[in-house]
Amino acid sequence: MGLFFLFLCAFLQFSTASPLRFNSKTGQFKILQVADMHYANGAKTSCLDVLSTEYGTCSDLNTTTFINRLIDAEKPDLIVFTGDNIFGADCDDSAASQVAAFAPAVNAHIPWAAVLGNHDQEGDLDRFHLMQHIVSMDYSVSQINPPSMTLSMSPEGDAYQSNIFQASIDGYGNYHLKVSGPQGSSLSKKSMLNLFFLDSGDYSTVDTISGYGWIKASQQFWFSQTAAELQAEFRSAPHSQNTSAPSFVYFHIPVREFVEFGESNMTGIRQEGIGSSDLNSGFFSAMVEAGVKAAFVGHDHVNDFCGRLNGVNLCYGGGFGYHAYGLAGWPRRARFVLVSLGKGDDGEWSGVQEITTWKRLDDDELSIVNKQLL
Ligand SMILES: *[C@@H]1O[C@H](CO)[C@@H](O)[C@H](O)[C@H]1NC(C)=O
Ligand SMILES: *[C@@H]1O[C@H](CO)[C@@H](O)[C@H](O)[C@H]1NC(C)=O
Ligand SMILES: *[C@@H]1O[C@H](CO)[C@@H](O)[C@H](O)[C@H]1NC(C)=O
Repeated sequence: MGLFFLFLCAFLQFSTASPLRFNSKTGQFKILQVADMHYANGAKTSCLDVLSTEYGTCSDLNTTTFINRLIDAEKPDLIVFTGDNIFGADCDDSAASQVAAFAPAVNAHIPWAAVLGNHDQEGDLDRFHLMQHIVSMDYSVSQINPPSMTLSMSPEGDAYQSNIFQASIDGYGNYHLKVSGPQGSSLSKKSMLNLFFLDSGDYSTVDTISGYGWIKASQQFWFSQTAAELQAEFRSAPHSQNTSAPSFVYFHIPVREFVEFGESNMTGIRQEGIGSSDLNSGFFSAMVEAGVKAAFVGHDHVNDFCGRLNGVNLCYGGGFGYHAYGLAGWPRRARFVLVSLGKGDDGEWSGVQEITTWKRLDDDELSIVNKQLL
């Protein structure tokens, strides 16, 4: 009986996604950001903006090969897909395209999180159903929306009257994930790194404003509240007087403040305009107030820089997918972030000490470029 119970526990541990946590040997946590795969129908889908000699042999499968090579080279602890994961308008079957697009993470048994861009929903699934499918996939740690922000339903499926004033939230794919301290350490139950994921929408739904969507007030409200709660939780727990738990935010469409950088104060390159919404959402202010360490976006495939404004690092991932516009001869790329804990005088892991980022290019050597501290 006891033995059976033990087996059952072991089975349950393997069958549920393990919580995200820092490695107990290295005290590190590594995230791969994949921006703008624009996946469609696999081998049938041709590439954009490659050299004229490359078109004949290039398809979505090159996007898959690139992720697989990055996984082998870097063994990330988490993969974040920052939207336009699929290019809906060209997909025969959006669910099948999502399965193929995220397959490298699933097959490598690596937890992964996704948000949507502005092109994902152009096929046969809307944004809600795309996120519902993403949440259901193996090793996905994605969520549709925070439970506290959706209208509670009665058992009959009607909006529950007593909760009628409970706030609802715009978009699909607004959630946060905690990265706990190393197993076996005094930090094992504490979140040492907080990751936020937000749906930056697709296009403006307000008549007087054209262009792209933005992170709405309802989402910002949830973000600010949650960030404050996590900070309070961190401070109240033991072993934290002198440490902090940084926050990263992942979404698709850049905030307007990405325009603030020039060659002298960015790492990486800007080769196209900043494709933010026409309206300044104010979300940058919310990130500054919450003390966010870095925001990571996609959307503009041939911009790949990071710059720091008011303490917040604003970073592009750089275009990843082959069925996405790019620049022929300018390799597709991806961003890594490595977060390292320090050690206290007592030899125990302490708070986050160092955050490094770099990009890997899809060339023969998977070249590392623009390594920097955040
Ligand atoms: C795409 O993959 C094929 C098959 O591995 C390869 O021959 C080709 O060079 C790749 N194209 C690009 C642009 O990477
Ligand atoms: C707190 O951090 C500061 C700066 O890193 C350091 O000088 C100090 O010794 C630390 N205090 C404790 C109690 O760990
Ligand atoms: C970056 O440098 C440019 C001048 O090259 C300056 O106009 C701009 O204000 C700077 N931005 C930041 C965020 O420091």
